[in-house]
Amino acid sequence: MFETLPGFRDFPPEDCARRNHLFRVFRTVAHAFNFSEYDAPILEPLDLYVEKSGEEIVGQLFHFEDKGNRRVALRPELTPTLARMVASRANALPKPIKWFNVGEHFRYERPQKGRGRSFYQFNADLLGESNLGADAELIALLVAIFETLGLSVRDFRIRLSDRTTWVLFLNALGVTEEQRPSVLDAIDKSERRKPEQNKESLENALPGRGEEILAEIDSIKKIDSLDALQNRLNECGDEGKERASQWFTLLEYLEGHGADDYIKIDLSIVRGLAYYTGFVYEAFEASGQGRALAGGGRYDHLIKKLSGNVDMPASGFAIGDMTLSDCLQSKGLLPTYILAPDLFLIGDHEERKSSLPIIARCRKAGFSVAYSLKNAAFGKQFKEAGKSGARYGLILGEDERIKNEIKIKDFRSGKEKTVSLKNLIEQLENLDEAGGIE
Ligand code: HAM
Repeated sequence: MFETLPGFRDFPPEDCARRNHLFRVFRTVAHAFNFSEYDAPILEPLDLYVEKSGEEIVGQLFHFEDKGNRRVALRPELTPTLARMVASRANALPKPIKWFNVGEHFRYERPQKGRGRSFYQFNADLLGESNLGADAELIALLVAIFETLGLSVRDFRIRLSDRTTWVLFLNALGVTEEQRPSVLDAIDKSERRKPEQNKESLENALPGRGEEILAEIDSIKKIDSLDALQNRLNECGDEGKERASQWFTLLEYLEGHGADDYIKIDLSIVRGLAYYTGFVYEAFEASGQGRALAGGGRYDHLIKKLSGNVDMPASGFAIGDMTLSDCLQSKGLLPTYILAPDLFLIGDHEERKSSLPIIARCRKAGFSVAYSLKNAAFGKQFKEAGKSGARYGLILGEDERIKNEIKIKDFRSGKEKTVSLKNLIEQLENLDEAGGIE
């Protein structure tokens, strides 16, 4: 027997229905925010990710050489692909560009709760707009999706941070531009590591200063109010004061969107991906347990880096399906789908030819219809109809056929009604409204 590869999932119909419930909400809410759906290849040139996504993701790539000796990789994320797509059409696209995608991604990670090697992401990005209104619009979209799925302020938080703020703080601590990536990487990993490991990685980046920098970072990470943050930023000169006022503006916009209750200022978030430049955020369960439900931020230089000549501000986020499904499941917010047909036609098998057009008419009218594919006796067909979970049976015996009639049986109440074939669709629609045969 073959099994799925580690970290890959089968989706039998019940699981597929639950996954589609998420996808439906993603699409409906994204449309309400005037985002347009796009799609892109799953396989990309390996080089698209090398350097652009950062070391961590490159170490997790599924990659190989194709038959044309090209080095290719299954996409671990969508942002570099989107940057490539937009850069190559930059002049033709009206701004701002508000695009979203629902698609599969692959990372060779250790499979564990909330982490797989194949997973789905909902990506939403807003390009060509540097105003903080864009960052607020994206966070508001993220909140609206979670709320539409039934989550409330009891259930999740968005931990908001800022790479620009970190750069100002690190500059004030005398950390050079060269040392900065290793320090940001150490901050990103700090929650998952022991203090000793954190000290060691900072000591490697800044010989002789590991302990001191770790203490400073720990005190910055404790900042959890706008006041405390603004006080510290105000000590970083004009740039610091400017950033303090931008924090204020962003939070004001988020209040306008009704998303402020979900926001928690938390500078321990810096994001593992290399391309972020400004405000960054991750969504977590309110309990703080489990891995991130979503993550994103501003990445103003990626498009220039990829294209060489197109300079375009950009910002976006992605929600992962695994952690989100686990969260919804634990709160009883994943609908239990009944994969039953609306109707089950039970017919005289000698006359299948006369029942098939009736089935076709019902299907065209939007009903989901099942019937026995075997030439089974009536009794067996009734059993099959019961097992299918159909709400109504359509019974076409010899009597009915001769009179151009059909019997509708309500499997819930057990009651029946004979109607003329001509009026069948109308009768079924009326029943739908009336809630059954009483
Ligand atoms: P990310 O934080 O790497 O960001 O991934 C976003 C979300 O995808 C995570 O919060 C998590 O829910 C899910 N995810 C990531 N890796 C896995 C995995 N191995 N198994 C299950 N779920 C996973 C990005 O991918 C950025 N490209 C998002 C973005 C879009 N930034 C700007 N625009």
